[in-house]
Amino acid sequence: MEKPIGLQKFLAMAGIASRRKAEEYISAGRVQVDGQVSTAMGQLIVPEKQTVLFDNKKVEAKEQLIYLLLNKPKGYVTTLSDPQGRPIVSTLLPGIKERVFPVGRLDIDTTGALLLTNDGELAQSILHPKYEVFKTYEAEVKGTPSKVTINALEQGILLEKKKTAPAKLTIKRRHKGYSVVHIRIHEGRKRQVKKMFQTVGHPVLALKRLAYGNLELNNLAIGKFRILCKNDIKKIFSKKNLYNKKNS
Ligand code: URA
Repeated sequence: MEKPIGLQKFLAMAGIASRRKAEEYISAGRVQVDGQVSTAMGQLIVPEKQTVLFDNKKVEAKEQLIYLLLNKPKGYVTTLSDPQGRPIVSTLLPGIKERVFPVGRLDIDTTGALLLTNDGELAQSILHPKYEVFKTYEAEVKGTPSKVTINALEQGILLEKKKTAPAKLTIKRRHKGYSVVHIRIHEGRKRQVKKMFQTVGHPVLALKRLAYGNLELNNLAIGKFRILCKNDIKKIFSKKNLYNKKNS
């Protein structure tokens, strides 16, 4: 990047203090740039090339936090590298310099919403069961699950000896031999949706994640991503169910 930025901004981005407080620290002579105490306001620095000390300790530049929503195509893995050499999702992010990682995983054959960020704290909250962030999937399943089966999946079924948490299901369309079902869960067990349907005798034929909370893919084209704003992040934690039965 190597773009000059204001010293106050650099200190704020590195988490030392707010910009205003950083100004006070600079005035107080507590900040050095390349071995010189810097008391002049508005000094520009190039973080990659210069050394900044605060109270004689090196200040490490932190990357700007960034949040992306990708519409993952089939055939891509959601790890950051793949020993088998399969395509990885980060190659679908041209122009993004930050080292982002996926929040949760999608199977290689699953498509749809994949959040990527370099904000470890936010990722942790989304994945932590305490926050119950709902993920909504559209599953094409073999046959048509009965009301009893839908109820069982909603109440929780045993997967690897552990009951699944309550879920919401809606049958959207019935076709010859298969149905399209929306399923909303907040757990993130490995291959959970496929295992749930497999267990009740309706194997998944195709799977797409539609949303994290109320943050939806909408018309984002397959293989494309968009940069998220604060309001998008809020939507992730919303408890409102966009896909409830009334809407179906
Ligand atoms: N559940 C699955 O079975 N697969 C996914 O990719 C995501 C959720």
